[in-house]
Amino acid sequence: ALISLRQMLDHAAEHGYGVPAFNVNNLEQMRAIMEAADKTDSPVIVQASAGARKYAGAPFLRHLILAAVEEFPHIPVVMHQDHGTSPAVCQRSIQLGFSSVMMDGSLGEDGKTPMEFDYNVDVTRRTVEMAHACGVSVEGELGCLGSLETGQAGEEDGVGAEGTLDMSQMLTDPEEAAEFVKQTHVDALAIAIGTSHGAYKFTRPPTGDILAIEQIKAIHKRIPDTHLVMHGSSSVPQEWLEIINKYGGEIPETYGVPVEEIVEGIKHGVRKVNVDTDLRLASTGSVRRFLAENPAEFDPRKFLKETMKAMTDICIARYEAFGSAGQA
Ligand code: G3H
Ligand code: 13P
Ligand code: NA
Ligand code: ZN
Repeated sequence: ALISLRQMLDHAAEHGYGVPAFNVNNLEQMRAIMEAADKTDSPVIVQASAGARKYAGAPFLRHLILAAVEEFPHIPVVMHQDHGTSPAVCQRSIQLGFSSVMMDGSLGEDGKTPMEFDYNVDVTRRTVEMAHACGVSVEGELGCLGSLETGQAGEEDGVGAEGTLDMSQMLTDPEEAAEFVKQTHVDALAIAIGTSHGAYKFTRPPTGDILAIEQIKAIHKRIPDTHLVMHGSSSVPQEWLEIINKYGGEIPETYGVPVEEIVEGIKHGVRKVNVDTDLRLASTGSVRRFLAENPAEFDPRKFLKETMKAMTDICIARYEAFGSAGQA
């Protein structure tokens, strides 16, 4: 059944687990996410980005998610809009039937320019008023995703600030977070702790100076009743990088957020964990390997089935590690 983010995360907080929120763009991802949830008895959050809406079209994405709800009626599903850039964008998703929206007012309507606290409060509060009137949940964001190693905001073409940020923008302040939640009444709050979107998060396995799990503890202490959200939480599995590179890919050395650090965050209020890149890497690695090993094959279902299997394995591993397995 389709449920709101608030309902799912209240249950997660009560029982001390986190839920991975997987981005969805196509049928194979949707099936992998649901089959893994079915196998592990986990609740599901699927989210559609602006890029996904551009790729598949909002009606296709919506029906893909509704098809999942229909085929797996015993699994609670949140249909979430990822990184909305304005109240108007969120309003359209609410009209389409999303049960949760993210109003990312940490950035301007271009999805790139870091914005002031007052702007963020204003757009987020307006979105909450509108969404709550429709029974829809809202995730806000305070602080900008970005690398504490380089001071760079992250991906060029993806979602995220552009250019150079200062350290204070890249670590969410607990006092400001408390003020933000008080003024906006968001259901969940995305925080900045040194992660960024995409595959290039860290040039070395991260330690506390570049991945600030301690900041989560300080924020959770100050606002213990707010559900925290970690963005940029792919772990960038080294085994998939090796497979991609073995079969013709060229991805330089790079590291993601270790699963055990996310688990530490979940002990301190993190309830929603956004994962997109890991499914992309598994998907690409499995296609490259299959086509290299089966050069005579030309039926796309053959290699797409491989992507589903690879993505299902990642989803199962995250459901189990984050503790959502067994909670559907
Ligand atoms: O928010 C970031 C997600 O990885 C979505 O990225 O806009 O390329 O679909 P995308
Ligand atoms: P990754 O790029 O680490 O998978 O993060 C995805 C995300 O935060 C989507 O909002
Ligand atoms: Na989101
Ligand atoms: Zn994100």
